[in-house]
Amino acid sequence: MSVLVVHPQEKPLTGGVPVPSDKSIGHRALLFASLCEGTSEIRGFSYGEDNVSTASAMRAMGAMIDDVTKGHLRVRGTGLFGLKAPSQALDCGNSGTTMRLLTGILCAQTFRTKLVGDASLSRRPMMRVVGPLRARGAVIDGAPHPTKEGELLPPLVVGPLPEGKELAELEYESPVASAQVKSAVLLSGLYAHGTTWLREPTLSRDHTERMMHALGVPLRAVGTMIELDPAGWNGKMPAFEITIPGDVSAAAFLLVAANVVPGSRVTVRGVGTNPTRTGLLEIARHMGAGIEVVPQGDQGGEPVAEITAWSAPMHGGLIGGELVPRAIDEIPIACALAARASGTTTIRDAEELRVKESDRIATMASVLRAFGVACEELPDGIVVEGREGPLEAAEVDSRGDHRIAMTAAVLALAAKAPSRITDCDCIATSFPRFVGTLRALGARIDVET
Ligand code: S3P
Repeated sequence: MSVLVVHPQEKPLTGGVPVPSDKSIGHRALLFASLCEGTSEIRGFSYGEDNVSTASAMRAMGAMIDDVTKGHLRVRGTGLFGLKAPSQALDCGNSGTTMRLLTGILCAQTFRTKLVGDASLSRRPMMRVVGPLRARGAVIDGAPHPTKEGELLPPLVVGPLPEGKELAELEYESPVASAQVKSAVLLSGLYAHGTTWLREPTLSRDHTERMMHALGVPLRAVGTMIELDPAGWNGKMPAFEITIPGDVSAAAFLLVAANVVPGSRVTVRGVGTNPTRTGLLEIARHMGAGIEVVPQGDQGGEPVAEITAWSAPMHGGLIGGELVPRAIDEIPIACALAARASGTTTIRDAEELRVKESDRIATMASVLRAFGVACEELPDGIVVEGREGPLEAAEVDSRGDHRIAMTAAVLALAAKAPSRITDCDCIATSFPRFVGTLRALGARIDVET
C-alpha cells in the first residue's frame, strides 16, 4: 500500500492542469449506455477504479464496452430488457454508487445477482436503497448489521422478481438527501408498472434526472420532487454521445491547495459546475478564498467552467443546511480551508459523512489533530479552529478513504516538515493522477510503495 511523503510547499503552486472526468456522471453514462438501444460513445472517460467497477459489472451482464482510444469508450447497449445473468458475483470494489445504482436496475431482472465490495464498502448501509425497492416488490437480501437492528450490509443478493410479478408503483419520501438512493429508485422506476414518485429533504446531485430527461424518459422534476410515469413510454432509450465534464470533486483538492499555499494561482478547465455539486466553491468564497468561475457553456447536458483559485486571507464560517448535500464529498477538503482560516469554522447537518468510505467526521478529526489543528467532533459535523503559522508535520493513515488521503496531502503542503500519509492506493478510485497533477503545479511529493 503506497505512502505519500509530502514536503512543505515553499514555493507557490502555479499552472493550469486537467482533472479526471466526473465520477458520478461517468457511472451514469456507463449504466445508461448499457441500457440503451444501439451504440453510444463516451469520451473523456478517466478510468478511476470506481468507474471501472461499473464498466466491469455492465460488461459481465452483456454490454459491449470497448476502448476505441484511451478515454473514448464505445458501448453497445443491451436495451432495457436485454441484460444477462452474470456468471459470478459483481465486484463493486470501493464504489457505493456502483452497488446502490446497480441494485435499482438488478431488482427488476428475472435473474439473481450477488453484489460484493471491498472492506470499506462492506461496512456501508444498504437499507436506504433496499427499503424503498422492497416496498415496490423487489426481492433483495443482505448481511445483517452487527449492531444496528434492521440495517443491511453488503454483500447484497438481488432478485429475481417472483414469476409473473412486476415492480409496483412507489411513493417515497427519502429521509436523506442522497443521489444514490434517488437514482436507485428512479432506475427501478424504468421497469415498474406504475408511477414512481420521490421527494428528498433537500436537492442532491441531479445527474440521473438530467440524463434520463435527455434520453426521453418521461420524468418530471420540480425542486426536490420527481415523478417518473412510464405509462405510454416504449421503454427504449436511444444511443447517445457524451463527453464527460471534469470532476469538480477532484478539482476541489487542487483549488484548495492553491487557496492554502501562499502566492499560488491554479486553473482547471472544463470542470462540471452543476449547481448540485458546487457547494465547496460557495463555501470557499464565503470564507474569503480566491475563487473565480468562468462559464464555458454546456457539455453532456451539464454546465462546465474554467475555475481559478488563488491564495488570500480566509476567515472561519458556518456551513450547514442545503449547502451540505451540494458539498457532501468536499467537506473533508473544506476542513483544510478551515484549518488555514482565522477563527472558528463550524460544520453541521453533515451526519451523512459518518457512512461514507470512512466515518469522515472521525477520520478528519484525527487527521486535523495530527497536523496540530484543534477541532471538536459533533454528532453531525465538526468545529475546526484555524491555526496560524505552519502546521505540525504529521504521520496519518487515510483509513482507505481517497478523499481523506488527498485532504491530508493538501494539509501537508502547509506543514513545517515532511509529512507521511499511509494507505494511499485508494486515491486511484477517483483521481489516479493526483500526485502527478500536484507535482505539475510544483508540489514535492515522494511515493513509497
Ligand atoms: C454520489 C452520491 C453521493 C456522493 C458519492 C457519489 C453519486 O452519495 O457522496 O460520492 O454519484 O450518486 P449519496 O448519494 O449517498 O449522498
